[in-house]
Amino acid sequence: MKERKKKVMLVFGTRPEAIKMAPLVREFERRSDCFETLVCVTGQHRQLLDQVLRIFDIAPRYDLDIMKQGQDLYDVTSRVLYGMRDVLDEACPDVVLVHGDTTTSTAAALAAFYRQIPVGHVEAGLRTHDIYSPWPEEMNRQLTGRIATWHFSPTSLSRKNLLDEGVDSGHILVTGNTVIDALYHVVGRIADDVALAASLDAQLCAAGYDPSRLDAMRRLVLITGHRRENFGEGFISMCRAIKALAVKYPDTDFVFPMHLNPNVRRPIREVFGSDAGSLGNMFFIEPLEYLSFVRLMERSTLVLTDSGGIQEEAPGLGKPVLVMRDTTERPEAVEAGTVKLVGTSYERITSEVSRLLSDTSAYAEMAQAVNPYGDGYACRRIADFLEKQEDFCGKRKAID
Ligand code: UD1
Ligand code: UDP
Repeated sequence: MKERKKKVMLVFGTRPEAIKMAPLVREFERRSDCFETLVCVTGQHRQLLDQVLRIFDIAPRYDLDIMKQGQDLYDVTSRVLYGMRDVLDEACPDVVLVHGDTTTSTAAALAAFYRQIPVGHVEAGLRTHDIYSPWPEEMNRQLTGRIATWHFSPTSLSRKNLLDEGVDSGHILVTGNTVIDALYHVVGRIADDVALAASLDAQLCAAGYDPSRLDAMRRLVLITGHRRENFGEGFISMCRAIKALAVKYPDTDFVFPMHLNPNVRRPIREVFGSDAGSLGNMFFIEPLEYLSFVRLMERSTLVLTDSGGIQEEAPGLGKPVLVMRDTTERPEAVEAGTVKLVGTSYERITSEVSRLLSDTSAYAEMAQAVNPYGDGYACRRIADFLEKQEDFCGKRKAID
């Protein structure tokens, strides 16, 4: 008798989850003899999510469309939970896959649990062990880990974190991070297609930064920031440091694709006012589509960020990363020497960036391409694992 296909639902809602789940969607779709693939997006991010769906050509079956301007954690949690109730009732998946540490992931995992549908956690086991740093992400990932049946850990360290919490070793698989699958795919596409590279440069120009400015003499510091725990004073201090650096290094361009969160844009306006334009080397631009962002990251001298995903991507491209946070759940690249935590203090940010821009041997030490986060085959490993799972279909029970 022919086995019934396993119905896999992938749920995501923000830009980084979409980038990291996109190659997994493709992997399951390729195995259509074994899996029925359903994509459900929550729309926790609207514009940033849609950019990624467009690039990877993903058409979700379900879209909860929950985003509200200035949404808080209660809004996101409750809207995802209620939205998922109806989606799960209609779709009846055999397994729900969620990613990482967003509120979409945790609320979707909880919704699946309430229907007794097993959850697979992609990017499982990252920990800072400080529930307020990053906030709310550390608690989100711990809660999702508690709910999940299967844990797809990017590294052996993240596997160890789960073992230390008592998770059964047979339920953890070290896969590498799917972001490396996405990154390699995009880097390969850009390298193989001169017309695509040219069109990305044109996109960058249209977004407000002309990359042809970069030559042997002109360097690029690429900046992003969006962490909730840095809002307020942390962001003001980061912006003041960036402004001082832009004044000190007129031969270096500072490019900041701004997250759409108003809490990111407010301090930028407050610190820079109308000065950014007059500096001549400071560029605040709209968030870039993933391909143009990767193109810019490849051409950067160093990256200054509080992002999680960029801490994983930039080391693979040999770019030093200064992380504007006090903790990281991704210590592997710190140990490898390409990532350094610098917090949000004005003094520390200005001194560490200055060191990399003025001391060639300090720069060379950090600019080694290392990739502790994967080999580009994470998605294949996850799909292989789920393909082999028995006792998989038919677990779902209606309980109300
Ligand atoms: C969310 C995640 C964070 C992740 C980050 C990636 C939570 C609690 N936070 O934070 O873990 O690192 O995404 O970027 O899950 N906005 C738009 N359009 C968009 C996206 C955001 O207008 O496409 C604005 C809206 O005003 C929205 C606000 O940004 O209310 C905040 O979005 P939200 O998802 O709540 O928080 P992020 O800071 O983006
Ligand atoms: N990114 C992008 N465009 C941008 C900034 C970032 O495509 O303008 C990508 C980046 O390459 C990485 C992901 O978005 O893959 C990181 O998202 P973000 O920093 O918002 O979230 P985090 O990783 O911190 O959760």
